[in-house]
Amino acid sequence: MLLENKTAVVTGASSGLGLAISRDLAHKGAKVFGLARRKEKLAAARADAGANFVPVVCDITDESDVARAFDVIQKAADSLDILVNNAGLGRFGALDSLSLEDWDVQMATNLRGVFLCTRAVIPTMKAQNVSGGFGGHIVNVASVAGLLGNPNIGAYNATKFGLRGLSESLMKEVRADGIKVTCIYPGSIETEFFERAGVPISANPMTAQDVASTVLHVIEAPDNYLISEVMMRPLRPAG
Ligand SMILES: NC(=O)c1ccc[n+]([C@@H]2O[C@H](COP(=O)([O-])OP(=O)(O)OC[C@H]3O[C@@H](n4cnc5c(N)ncnc54)[C@H](OP(=O)(O)O)[C@@H]3O)[C@@H](O)[C@H]2O)c1
Repeated sequence: MLLENKTAVVTGASSGLGLAISRDLAHKGAKVFGLARRKEKLAAARADAGANFVPVVCDITDESDVARAFDVIQKAADSLDILVNNAGLGRFGALDSLSLEDWDVQMATNLRGVFLCTRAVIPTMKAQNVSGGFGGHIVNVASVAGLLGNPNIGAYNATKFGLRGLSESLMKEVRADGIKVTCIYPGSIETEFFERAGVPISANPMTAQDVASTVLHVIEAPDNYLISEVMMRPLRPAG
């Protein structure tokens, strides 16, 4: 897809990977609606990404908030070409000591939020697929934790394995409508993720910018060429 004058929605645009993807899309000429809850971080993201970045305060776990956000976006934009379902979080710990709240917030953010945002864009993307053209591209940010189970991240594993299943199902459901679905599986990235999860980051993480560059490569692929899954890892995880 050529990015100039396209419309993108990126969830979790206020920090980390979502900010890096938003910045790259905006610099390539796409209008980017960046969703997140922290208004001041979104304002900083606009200063960083430039005038093509439009902050939209939205809690993606809240059905009415998502409906309101996409209503605003659809009134402001001529098309809806890209959705990056990036917002997500981890709450780690042994399963028998994990609180219900920590379980629920991961399910709500990493799966329910993806469902709500994806459901909001598909009708428009289908309608854009006129006479065998191109409908749009949905990129889901899973994790290597969507492919490999490990101790103490069971709930996070469950959400990211779930996201893999959702992505594969949706990819087969909408590709005949000219809509691409890609699921990415990054290893450790240097972002606020680990601080918020309350665990130390691995010794040699990838940068958000490196992962964003691959996401841009996937989105910029020719229209009849679908990269449906990508796994990324740091070369020397132990440093
Ligand atoms: N960092 C890693 O090592 C790593 C590895 C593999 C995959 N991932 C995945 O990459 C994605 C991005 O994470 P990150 O590493 O960039 O972490 P991050 O810096 O903590 O960013 C998470 C983003 O999600 C947003 N968010 C969280 N809950 C939200 C909600 N209810 N509504 C709207 N936005 C919400 C946050 O914004 P607000 O707080 O402002 O709402 C923030 O912008 C996540 O899906 C994560 O699972 C991360």
